[in-house]
Amino acid sequence: MPQHILFVDDNPLMLAGLGRMLRPMRHEWDMAFAPGGAAALAAIEASSYDVIVSDMRMPDIDGAELLRYAIRIQPRAMRIILSGQASYGASLRSVQTAHQCLSKPCEMAMLTGKIGPALARRAPLGGEEIAVAVSEMTTLPSRPEAHRHLLAELQTPNPSTHHTAEIIASDLGMTCKLLQVANSAFFSNDRRQTLDVGHAVRRLGLDIVRQLAVSAGAFNEFDCQELLPFVEELSIHSIETRDRSEVVATSKGLARPIIEAASTAGLLHDVGKLVFAAIYGPRYGQILRRAREEQVPLWCVERDHLGASHADVGAYLLALWGLSEPVVDAVAHHHHDEGPVSEFSARTVLQAVLRTQRLQSGQHINGK
Ligand SMILES: [Fe+2]
Ligand SMILES: [Fe+2]
Repeated sequence: MPQHILFVDDNPLMLAGLGRMLRPMRHEWDMAFAPGGAAALAAIEASSYDVIVSDMRMPDIDGAELLRYAIRIQPRAMRIILSGQASYGASLRSVQTAHQCLSKPCEMAMLTGKIGPALARRAPLGGEEIAVAVSEMTTLPSRPEAHRHLLAELQTPNPSTHHTAEIIASDLGMTCKLLQVANSAFFSNDRRQTLDVGHAVRRLGLDIVRQLAVSAGAFNEFDCQELLPFVEELSIHSIETRDRSEVVATSKGLARPIIEAASTAGLLHDVGKLVFAAIYGPRYGQILRRAREEQVPLWCVERDHLGASHADVGAYLLALWGLSEPVVDAVAHHHHDEGPVSEFSARTVLQAVLRTQRLQSGQHINGK
């Protein structure tokens, strides 16, 4: 079935150019073109879209505002801003509503390379409920302690870049959001993706990180008291897995980008648990209890009760937010075990680390 994609731009020449450029995609994508914000609003009220790609600066409704409506009317749709230069304020608003921000001019490979992988990760989610809930998320909750720590650091007269990066790197939610923003075209002319939190903080600068944290609401605190101990434990497990993945990838003599992907995948492999905890709260607590009491792998209980595992939803969220495919792939497959391999990738490094953790703990870590 073709995917329904809406392109929005107030410049008719730009829309016509997009249509011509994307003609080779016409069998996979059912494309609609709206000449401005008001026309786009009418379109999303009338029919449903898998993806909405909007210009930022439009005279009637700007892209960030349009996507804010889209979250309410069509929360399942993937939201992309495709824009030229945007003001600082508009850029900050767009990271609150768009999954990804791309810059013009944008080649077909860039668009298909962002949209295709994200939509492919939606397929294993089973029902619509989870796809909608994940797509609606504009931020991921952080451990309250890490969040307060970050705010305190950023409000000192001379915050330290190094310490700020350390705090963010210690938290799954903040790391995800930071990487999403730092790789957005609005905040960086560098199209190379960074997975290194320190580099991401330097790329944005402390002023922007402060704006994100203090006024843009990019980071918020996890507020389900019942699941707080679980989130703390998840954080310890994630950091340990990140550190071990980095050690293993380095010891194999892998190239720097693979080491970074492996270590990021190590930190984020269970991010789907955080997504579930944020979406379902105490109901997810019951699923955690059930897996523990019945000694069944958690991902099996999740699939039984929710229709998808934390690996499925984690991979979907990261693909929506534009993280690189090696990281998304490793997260999606972290419960598979392909056994020892001769060639290492982020996926197989992570699998090797989780296998060792299982053996050392004598229990089903992946089932935790
Ligand atoms: Fe897991
Ligand atoms: Fe895990």
